[in-house]
Amino acid sequence: MNNLNVLIIGGGGREHALAWAISRSEHLGNLYIAPGNAGTLLIAESLDLDVSDHQSVINSVAEHSVDLVVIGPEQPLVAGLADDLRAAGCAVFGPDKAAAQLEGSKAFAKSVMKAAGVPTAAWRDFGKDELEEARTYALDQQLPVVVKADGLASGKGVVICRSEDEVHAIFDQILNEGAFGDAASRVVVEEFMEGEEASVFAVTDGEHVKLFPPVQDHKQIGEGGTGPNTGGMGAYLPAPVVSDEMLEEIEESIIRPVLAEMKSRGISYTGVLYTGLMITKDGPKVVEFNCRFGDPECQVLMPATFEDVLTLCYQAATGDLEDGRLACSDLHFCGVIMASAGYPGSYEKGKVITGTEQMDKDILVYHSGTSSENGRLVTAGGRVLCVVGRGATLDKAIQRAYSGVKNIDFEGAYFRSDIGRKGLMRELNA
Ligand code: AMP
Ligand code: GLY
Repeated sequence: MNNLNVLIIGGGGREHALAWAISRSEHLGNLYIAPGNAGTLLIAESLDLDVSDHQSVINSVAEHSVDLVVIGPEQPLVAGLADDLRAAGCAVFGPDKAAAQLEGSKAFAKSVMKAAGVPTAAWRDFGKDELEEARTYALDQQLPVVVKADGLASGKGVVICRSEDEVHAIFDQILNEGAFGDAASRVVVEEFMEGEEASVFAVTDGEHVKLFPPVQDHKQIGEGGTGPNTGGMGAYLPAPVVSDEMLEEIEESIIRPVLAEMKSRGISYTGVLYTGLMITKDGPKVVEFNCRFGDPECQVLMPATFEDVLTLCYQAATGDLEDGRLACSDLHFCGVIMASAGYPGSYEKGKVITGTEQMDKDILVYHSGTSSENGRLVTAGGRVLCVVGRGATLDKAIQRAYSGVKNIDFEGAYFRSDIGRKGLMRELNA
C-alpha cells in the first residue's frame, strides 16, 4: 500500500482538513483535489472537474492513476458518484447512492431506525399529495413540532414550529410558495426533542466500525445559539455531554444496528457515518444521519487523530477495517469559523485576507471559501476559514483558537465568540 494516488472531491474546510491529514501519510503518492480552495493549493493539485459529470471524474481518475477517491460532500454521494467510480474499478471512501439515502431521505432514515429499534423522535411522513393530512397531523401534536423536508436542503429543510400559526405558515409556504423545493416531495413531521446536541463520527467498511471522539457543532449564526441555521459556526471535541459509556451505548444501540439493518436490506455502507444526536433526559436519540464528515467537525477531528487518515480511508474503502476506537490525542480541540458579513444570507466576495500565516504550533487554519487572486488570498464563500486551537484543557484550546482569529483580518469578518462555551459550562457544573 505505497505511493497511493488520492483524489479528494470537494472544496470546503472539511476537504482542506482531509487533504491536510492525507498529505501527512507516508503512503501517499500524488494528492489531487477537485476543486479545492486556496488552502489546498500547497498540498494538493487542483483539478478542474465537473463533479456532476461522473464520466469526466472517471476519466480523470484513469488519467491520473488515482487509487482512492475520497468524497467530501453529500450531493455527489446522493447522486451516485461512488457507485459509478466503483463500477469503474476505483476504491472509494464514501457510501454509494443507496446507502447515502440515510442522509438523502429522512423518511428512509426513519424507516431504517424503526426497523433497527434505534431511539429517535416519534414521526410520520407524508407524500406531496398528503400535505393537508400532514398539516392536520402536525396540529394534533404537542408543540413545538418539527416539520422537515425529506430530501437534501443544505440544512434549510427543518422548521421548528412553536405555535399553530407557525405550523400553518410552513404548510402554506410548502403548498403555495414551493418552500423546501424538490426536497419537499415528502415531508416528515416529528416530535421535538429537548436536550443538547452532539455528533458522533464512525468510519466503517459496512462491517467494522471505528469511532472518533464526540463533537459538538454550533449551527446557528448568533451568540448563544440564536438566529438562522448555518452549515456550522464552530466545533469542539471531546464534547463532555457524551461520556465514554454513552459513546459505547451509541455504538452498540445506534450505529451497529443501523449498519446491520442496512446490510439486511442488501446495502453495505462504506465511508463515514455521521450520527447527529440529541442527548435527552432519556438518553441519546438520533436527530439525523449524514453520509459524510461534518464541516466544521472534520476540522477538529483531523488534527485530533493520530491515525494515518489515508490508510484509514483506504481500509474502509476496501473492506479491510478493524473494530475499535481511533487513536486520538488527549488534547482538546476547538475550531472557530470566520465568515463573510451577511452569511448565511447574501455576502460579498473578494475581500483580502491577512494574517493567516503567523500562527503558533498549537493553532491551525483550514480554508473554506477562499481563493487566490493575483497572489493575494481573498474570500470566496460564506464560511471563509476555520481556526483551530488545541490545548491540554478545553479552555486553553478555546483561547488558542480565538488568539488565532484575532490575528486574521478581512473586511466584514464575523465569528461567534462562544464556541465551546457549552462544554466549559458543563465542565464547571460537573
Ligand atoms: P437536521 O437537518 O435534521 O439535522 O435538523 C437541523 C437541526 O434542527 C438539528 O440540528 C436540530 O437543532 C434541529 N432539530 C431537528 N429535528 C429536531 C427534533 N426532532 N427536535 C429538536 N430539534 C430538532
Ligand atoms: N456541521 C454540520 C454539517 O456538516 O452537517
